[in-house]
Amino acid sequence: MTMIDVDRHFAERRERHLAELMDFLRIPSISALSAHREDVRRAAAWLAERLRRAGLEHVEVEETGGHPVVTADWLHAPGAPTVLIYGHYDVQPVDPESLWTTPPFEPQIRDGRLYARGASDDKGQTFMHVLAVEAWLQETGRLPVNVKFLVEGEEEVGSRNLDAFVARHRERLAADVVVVSDTPMLAPGRPAVCYGLRGIASMEVRVQGPASDLHSGLFGGSVLNPIQALVGLLASLHAPDGRVAVPGFYDDVRPLTPEEREAFARLPFDEEEYRRRLGVPELFGEPGYTTLERVWARPTLEFNGISGGFQGEGGKTIVPSWASAKISCRLVPDQDPQRILDALERHLRERAPRAVQFTVERGQGSPASVVPLDHPAVRAAARVLEETYGRPADFIRMGGSIPVVPTFRERLGAPVVLLGFGLPDENFHAPNEFFTLENFDLGVRALARYWAALAQSMAGRSD
Ligand code: BES
Ligand code: MN
Ligand code: MN
Repeated sequence: MTMIDVDRHFAERRERHLAELMDFLRIPSISALSAHREDVRRAAAWLAERLRRAGLEHVEVEETGGHPVVTADWLHAPGAPTVLIYGHYDVQPVDPESLWTTPPFEPQIRDGRLYARGASDDKGQTFMHVLAVEAWLQETGRLPVNVKFLVEGEEEVGSRNLDAFVARHRERLAADVVVVSDTPMLAPGRPAVCYGLRGIASMEVRVQGPASDLHSGLFGGSVLNPIQALVGLLASLHAPDGRVAVPGFYDDVRPLTPEEREAFARLPFDEEEYRRRLGVPELFGEPGYTTLERVWARPTLEFNGISGGFQGEGGKTIVPSWASAKISCRLVPDQDPQRILDALERHLRERAPRAVQFTVERGQGSPASVVPLDHPAVRAAARVLEETYGRPADFIRMGGSIPVVPTFRERLGAPVVLLGFGLPDENFHAPNEFFTLENFDLGVRALARYWAALAQSMAGRSD
């Protein structure tokens, strides 16, 4: 099989590729905000058009009931493995916008970094896959593997409609391996294969007190203040040492093996520098675990937001009518999202004071996932990364979630290789998101090489 000259291919086209990515990034495809519904569709259409130009076939923008998915394929490598490439073209909201140095949807390159919402998470990384496939088709007219694309527009809102889509199109999406580029590496210059993600289970709780806000002088003291009730409930969810206090929360947690703890400890990770970067006086978390263990392999319960009462300037003497909080748990292998939400809901209901109305709205859940490190697709990824970056790849886990990843495993029976080119400091979900261009350049080369390496490593396998 020919090995294409990836360096020359990408070097010759770099300016054009970056200009195209910037066009993609200019489309404000914020999936969470209904005002951007049409922008999300425009981003899907842009991507579909770009896939067509790259030489992909059966390119479609398909309805899901929510934001559409973009699908495409190239299936002319009989006998070679089939790869499903997954990514997301939707992005997170941009607030607080005033903290962006340049506007989130006016991409700009500064100091070798491309700044824009979605630059790294995940339009930039998804676009790299289009370029890697295009490189093969332009240079040789073929690919060493069969390729299917599935790019969704709802990842940042929990992939609500994607499970059903995957279930409906199981045959069409069937693959030997799923490849996802939507995770960070551990540090600059150190390529990584990520072999595990945490799951997620979320819920919103609301405490309703008096029918409307009350003058706190006239009525204060005669009714239970909803904020007081809410914060009491929330405070009962953790022990002071940081452990989650919900009965049953840790019951199914798969413990870390001594080997994995050793492997984590060997990774270059400086807790003090991490602390400094986060700007906290001291790190805090579940006792008995290192920081990497806490964020990669231990479950958490976090408060994501809290509202209620007067938020404006100055004071306002009221007893507010209601208070609410958004809660999400990060889950690790063997925890079941529904069981966790059951345990959490039970804990809160048992403690909810009778002087207020307490309601719960359960959000979506998705379990954690880990891939076996000895799978040939994982090994091939590590080899190609080493070749491209000139140093061995780290095997890492990550604490974030990609809700459809466990679905691929379950419905398609395929391992998911997380071949991410982001960096932890690229401001995912925050102001001034950027993508480090060094990883754009090395990443497209690694991905193009990966298709040849994968075909080789899986030759003759039937599973
Ligand atoms: N790309 C991230 C997932 C991620 C982030 C993995 C960091 C590993 C490290 C993805 O776009 C994301 O943000 N997912 C959400 C999912 C949620 C909305 C259900 C997350 O993890 O919060
Ligand atoms: Mn992402
Ligand atoms: Mn994200």
